[in-house]
Amino acid sequence: MAYFSWADSFSVKVKEIDDQHKVLIDMLNRLHDAHIAQKGREVQSEIIDSMVSYAQNHFQMEEKYMQRFNYSGYSSHKSEHDQFTVKALDLKGRIESVGFVFTIEILDFLKNWLQNHILGTDMKYSSHFNEAGLC
Ligand code: FEO
Repeated sequence: MAYFSWADSFSVKVKEIDDQHKVLIDMLNRLHDAHIAQKGREVQSEIIDSMVSYAQNHFQMEEKYMQRFNYSGYSSHKSEHDQFTVKALDLKGRIESVGFVFTIEILDFLKNWLQNHILGTDMKYSSHFNEAGLC
């Protein structure tokens, strides 16, 4: 069974964004499965690379819409995105210099991101984006 399964309650009611959030959930599930199978170190480098590209692509898209639709929560939202990017680059730097990080650290970070950012911070722009015609 998946660590986290997509549920309608996760939806921000914008398909393009939901699809990208599903990518993060896939990362989380894949890393969790590997961790349970005691193979976390075999996939963590690939997951961290995915986090870096997710940060570049997904955050750029959300920030573009927030600016386009004059979303009042832009600055604080972007600040959370920047924190994710710093963490992803820190993990990447450490895995490149040391060879591994603790899988549980990545898992906890992604799980907290899903619960606090996607289901909290992201959810707040949902009605604003919908009212602007984005769905
Ligand atoms: Fe979906 Fe604000 O990240």
